[in-house]
Amino acid sequence: MSSPQPISLNKLSLETNDNAVSTSPTQNYLNLSHSNSNRRQSLKPVKPLKPFIKGDIKILLLENVNTTAISILEKQGYQVEFHKTSLPEDELIEKIKDVHAIGIRSKTKLTEKVLSHAKNLVVVGCFCIGTNQVDLEYAAKQGIAVFNSPFSNSRSVAELVIGEIISLARQLGDRSIEMHTGTWNKVSNKCWEIRGKTLGIIGYGHIGSQLSVMAESLGMNVLYYDVITIMALGNSKQVSSLDELLRNSDFVTCHVPATADTKNLISTPQFSIMKDGSYLINASRGTVIDIPALIKAMKSGKIAGAALDVFPHEPPKNGAGLFSNELNPWASELVSLRNIILTPHIGGSTEEAQSAIGVEVATALTKYVNEGISIGAVNFPEVSLRSLDLDQENYVRVLYIHHNVPGVLKTVNHILSNHNIEKQFSDSRGDIAYLMADISNVSTDSIESLHKELNDTPYKILIRLLY
Ligand SMILES: NC(=O)c1ccc[n+]([C@@H]2O[C@H](COP(=O)([O-])OP(=O)(O)OC[C@H]3O[C@@H](n4cnc5c(N)ncnc54)[C@H](O)[C@@H]3O)[C@@H](O)[C@H]2O)c1
Repeated sequence: MSSPQPISLNKLSLETNDNAVSTSPTQNYLNLSHSNSNRRQSLKPVKPLKPFIKGDIKILLLENVNTTAISILEKQGYQVEFHKTSLPEDELIEKIKDVHAIGIRSKTKLTEKVLSHAKNLVVVGCFCIGTNQVDLEYAAKQGIAVFNSPFSNSRSVAELVIGEIISLARQLGDRSIEMHTGTWNKVSNKCWEIRGKTLGIIGYGHIGSQLSVMAESLGMNVLYYDVITIMALGNSKQVSSLDELLRNSDFVTCHVPATADTKNLISTPQFSIMKDGSYLINASRGTVIDIPALIKAMKSGKIAGAALDVFPHEPPKNGAGLFSNELNPWASELVSLRNIILTPHIGGSTEEAQSAIGVEVATALTKYVNEGISIGAVNFPEVSLRSLDLDQENYVRVLYIHHNVPGVLKTVNHILSNHNIEKQFSDSRGDIAYLMADISNVSTDSIESLHKELNDTPYKILIRLLY
């Protein structure tokens, strides 16, 4: 890191961006203190903070991330370099050397080798859901926070499921395939309205809860099962067991994460207690349904229809012939069933979701760079402090990422104790800990010595001072 020098005020325009990230009933409760601080920010102008280390913030955006992200980041005064594609590894290594932030999608691999060349990098933004393309552990060890966008496409998934409920109830997939092959087959037998039917939602998180509201507005009754107790929206009702949900639902839809507990969550014993002629939808993760068991249940008529958007093994790219028995041994049997809607993991694939991902990740990057707030980081302790007010002069925000070992707070607070510690928050995750503190009565001259003292501590991974 180059030697610290004060920079002139107003060099960067660091406005706070008010674009909110999406929330669910659970998130609202969990992030109460954070949302309170957001509300406070919207009522009162906050003090923009400047980095103590001189120089413009440089951001490298790869893989054609959404234009919403570019405009948010440029509005902050950052130097943004944008590329439509990913870069070959040697070029990536060259470019990553002096950037402070990098924005990628799924094709750019940020391995230990690549990240080890990043000298100024403080944050990575994955403009997508997954973060497997980044060596998260190595990044955390270097003090680099990684953000993604897990919830920007919740609405898109919920809308797809609503479409599927009606399509399955009316056998739309079969009628459409018949018409495409010249067959006129006007039937009403076993075709239903969804009004008055019961939808059972497994997993009442971001997607499940959105779906609940929409399904009720279409006249459905909603039951849900979740491993945690969650406040019901509308007239929906939480049930205490999965069996109770399965026994009482006409349509069952899964919205749980892929965990050891959710592997084959719906298998032969669960199909056996579902209502005769009920329907199953899965747009969560491919491991949640035991697909051979579903095939049997559909062949026997127990299950009248199903919609699957996710599969245990999915092709890595688009192309004809890729959804085959080589990939999943039951593929040809599955595609031969009637009233089954199969889609290539498109639940969250909408223009709106892409632009929301751009906003969500760019906002998270901005909050981290400008204020040190790490709420939503996937590899890092999540820490937040409320913003400083405009009239708070001679304040410095200390961002100290360190090894999670005994004695750190004593040492750091001894260094900070020459000033007034107005507020402080610290949290750890594994070997990494992160302390944020706002200190007052700091003259511009003393910032440099403060920086040096903190920088010299043996536990330090990365420090930033904002003022
Ligand atoms: N098809 C797509 O394109 C697409 C897009 C986005 C998300 N997803 C997937 O949808 C799923 C749900 O996403 P979300 O954003 O609503 O997640 P979320 O984390 O907001 O909600 C998941 C809910 O499931 C609950 N849960 C966990 N284990 C459970 C269990 N064993 N039984 C019952 N409930 C359980 C959790 O308590 C939580 O309330 C995830 O698997 C996600 O990867 C798919």
